[in-house]
Amino acid sequence: MKIQRAAVIGAGTMGAGIAQVLSQAGIEVILKDINQEFVDKGITRIKRMYESRVKKEVLTQAEADYLLGMIKGSTTFDAFKDVDLVIEAALEEINVKLDIFKQLDKICPSHAILASNTSALSVSEIAACTKRPEKVIGMHFFNPAQTMKLVEVIPGLKTSKDTVATVSDLCRELKKIPVTVQECPGFLVNRLLFPYLNEALYVAEEGIASLDEVDRLVVEFGMPMGPYTLLDMTGIDICANVNNFLYDQYGPRFEPAQLINKLVESGFKGQKSGAGFFIHDPNQVPKKDEPKKVNPELAKILKSINENKKPAGNSRPFDVYRVILPMFNEAIYAIQEQVVVPGDVDIAMQWGCGMTKGLLTIAENKGLDWCLAELKSYEKIHGERFRPAWLLSKLVNAGIHDFSQLNLTPAAVR
Ligand SMILES: NC(=O)c1ccc[n+]([C@@H]2O[C@H](COP(=O)([O-])OP(=O)(O)OC[C@H]3O[C@@H](n4cnc5c(N)ncnc54)[C@H](O)[C@@H]3O)[C@@H](O)[C@H]2O)c1
Repeated sequence: MKIQRAAVIGAGTMGAGIAQVLSQAGIEVILKDINQEFVDKGITRIKRMYESRVKKEVLTQAEADYLLGMIKGSTTFDAFKDVDLVIEAALEEINVKLDIFKQLDKICPSHAILASNTSALSVSEIAACTKRPEKVIGMHFFNPAQTMKLVEVIPGLKTSKDTVATVSDLCRELKKIPVTVQECPGFLVNRLLFPYLNEALYVAEEGIASLDEVDRLVVEFGMPMGPYTLLDMTGIDICANVNNFLYDQYGPRFEPAQLINKLVESGFKGQKSGAGFFIHDPNQVPKKDEPKKVNPELAKILKSINENKKPAGNSRPFDVYRVILPMFNEAIYAIQEQVVVPGDVDIAMQWGCGMTKGLLTIAENKGLDWCLAELKSYEKIHGERFRPAWLLSKLVNAGIHDFSQLNLTPAAVR
């Protein structure tokens, strides 16, 4: 099916971005929110994006006007009777989404696909409140949706192959990169990113390297920014919620470092609160190579954590693989669960979080036997967070050194 008319529910950060992306591909879009003020805010945001493209001479004024004209704001479902696709980007609350999907199911034509941009809620649960679960799917865009290339395409338990194919084709038409990820907590990118962020928090607790040193080494390694900078930018409270959720779902290997919840309790939520790991003074933005100012309260928080904690035995000096290996190991867990095919892991991490090198490619270059030995060595010191996924031992024991030799069926056609 070719998508010609679409609707987006929620004109906030993600909804406005998604509506813009659809309009750019020549798709008519209805942008719906709960009141006119929110609709207008969303449309104004899109207008500004188009204006900036005119200023940069990427678009002419006439082209920008035409594309903006593809988007019609609305506070009702009146025009939903002939849409081919709806992408819901309202609040991340299950009851809000269930309510929206029940209404969409009644109003939208029977051929229409109903997608959710949820970051973490269950696509299968959302699908189950409709009479068309085969046409319900997750489309997880990344922020900002206008520029981030990756879309995690998440089929629910009953989503049809046709729906997956239509949505993946649409993503390519939108000049995005779709990666099919079977439904699991954190989907793929967040599931892999959080063990890395969490390990950086443990490193900070141990004090084996300074924040600047870890951030710098990680950037030299190929991440777009260091873990503490990313935590501050994303919001430490938001990261704590995700981390706690993943711990609840996956158990001990995601046990959050105490530091994250302590920072939130102390009001240090990162950039938006003026301080997190670093001080964020909008009037004193540090120059590019100038070290960031570390939050002076951090030392007190770390002291209080360490007073009540047994130090890790036989600690090793900081090495960037201390934070990279948990991410790699989680990728192997996801592959062994057939959540994703190996070939999609590097693509997702490149386009979803800006890694300049492929995660699995790095591991192959280091040697899977080396990765396994290092994970085991860290497991002896730090326990469950480093317990190697069984698939890794199986590969090493079978003498398989690269993932292309793994004969796995792509998730999309399973
Ligand atoms: N912000 C991100 O980085 C990000 C990234 C990926 C996915 N997401 C997901 O996208 C969704 C939206 O996030 P956001 O950051 O754009 O939120 P946001 O708060 O910026 O926007 C949400 C919008 O939805 C509207 N809304 C709420 N209930 C509604 C309803 N019943 N009908 C229509 N509109 C309604 C709100 O008025 C608001 O304008 C969430 O599910 C979130 O988890 C967010």
